[in-house]
Amino acid sequence: MKLSCTVSKFLDIADNAVVLFCHKSSVPNSDLLEQIDILSGGAVAEMYESGEFNGADGSAVMIRRVPETAAGRIVLAGLGESKNINFDTYRRAAGHIGKMMLKHKVKSVTMYYDGTDTNPIAQALVEGCILGTYRFLDYKTGDKDKNDGVDSLTIAVPQGGKLKQAQTGLDRADIVAWAVNMCRDLTFLPGNTLYPESYAKRAEKLAKECGFKCTILGPSEIKKEKMDALYSVGKGSDRPPRFVILEYNGKPKSKPVVLVGKGVTFDSGGISLKPGLNMQEMIGDMMGSAVVLSVICAAARLGVKMNIVALMPLAENMPSGGASKPGDIINSRAGHTIEIINTDAEGRLILADALDYADTFDPQAVIDIATLTGASLYILGYAGAPFVGTSQNLNNNLRAVSETIGEKVWELPLWSEYSDLMKSSVADIKNSGGRPAGTLSAAAFLKKFTKDWPWAHIDIAYCDIEPSGKPYTPKGATGYGVRLLLELLQRWKRP
Ligand code: BES
Ligand code: MN
Ligand code: ZN
Repeated sequence: MKLSCTVSKFLDIADNAVVLFCHKSSVPNSDLLEQIDILSGGAVAEMYESGEFNGADGSAVMIRRVPETAAGRIVLAGLGESKNINFDTYRRAAGHIGKMMLKHKVKSVTMYYDGTDTNPIAQALVEGCILGTYRFLDYKTGDKDKNDGVDSLTIAVPQGGKLKQAQTGLDRADIVAWAVNMCRDLTFLPGNTLYPESYAKRAEKLAKECGFKCTILGPSEIKKEKMDALYSVGKGSDRPPRFVILEYNGKPKSKPVVLVGKGVTFDSGGISLKPGLNMQEMIGDMMGSAVVLSVICAAARLGVKMNIVALMPLAENMPSGGASKPGDIINSRAGHTIEIINTDAEGRLILADALDYADTFDPQAVIDIATLTGASLYILGYAGAPFVGTSQNLNNNLRAVSETIGEKVWELPLWSEYSDLMKSSVADIKNSGGRPAGTLSAAAFLKKFTKDWPWAHIDIAYCDIEPSGKPYTPKGATGYGVRLLLELLQRWKRP
């Protein structure tokens, strides 16, 4: 999508479509709406009277060929009640409009904005439109789908003084949306294309393009590092595991924030095989790692002034004669022995070694993100991601950021009862605590592999795939967590 900014009066904008954002009201409530009403021969007032349009959140109407205006179509987009409007409202509205343009095959659209906060609003509008019109077309062979996208988005402001702010927001949004959509692409990629080796190569290429360091550990180096837990998950597959280390230095000589993402490129469950229904969704079990990869790429492109490390333990969880079995006892990099109760509880194993490895960077904080437990569905549903953490400051910052950017997270307790569930009678710890509080017993397992640095764990199982489609999140892979962690880093406060 070609992005640009311009200075123009609303009625002079000559584009395929021009969008005016409207607060909810019972009658047309701005000079511009009244002007459009007059030019359109009363069409606007008529819609308000009938209730066809009144500026309600998520609503939009299109009026074609209004006389004496330059645009092909005028689109009125509702924002809802003034008191409830925030930046995410604009992001949602822009996503909605983007999809409307897709549907009506409108190639080029201008969004007009004449209020305050031009920079963050321009960012929200551009993000919403790019994210909302995202489609995964890598495997569509016809040209039909490829050619009917929205080609151009312009942000129009009435005064030249606002242009620079709009451009700043637009440039930022360009990178943020690129990162989210890259995460979505990676999540959509099937297991026969994206497996540990090919995934690591993609990460390496991206690191080169974005200008930061990438180190890849192969199976023998993983063994040498004593990452037996990661190795044990990967050994059932013909596609051996990888461990990818990404390092971005935006502030020399300072302690890094280490991000860790679960990268199970396909989770069959292993010997504890999953049921067949919807097993194909487990191609997305690597989204945590795609989140941290996308975040570090975007941070580098934005020039964020801090040091960031992203760790991607990558493995394919498959059943075979070489696979781990229930009852096996394995070692881990930290030296804790682990009794395997269920080979489908593999995410925590690969994260355990990655969390232990994180300590080698003397981190100021460590945050992991993972499609870890099916049980998270019964906590927050599809609406948000549960998280736990050991630093109240970090937890509070995560919560605060999540609310403003529209990727919601909610803190849960890390009580000792959950650690008790993970005690093994034969090893130091076991990998499954049974049905109670599955999300928290998994978190308690991870905690055993952390040190005294501030740590947070975000469980994005069920936030990774949007079941029906939201304004700027089309059905399918979401990229949930990219904007959250990126914004957290940009507003970083040392915990
Ligand atoms: N990748 C799954 C979690 C998951 C389930 C993500 C559904 C998205 C949708 C994870 O590896 C897993 O299988 N977890 C098990 C753990 C259990 C065996 C202790 C689970 O949640 O059932
Ligand atoms: Mn599993
Ligand atoms: Zn898994």
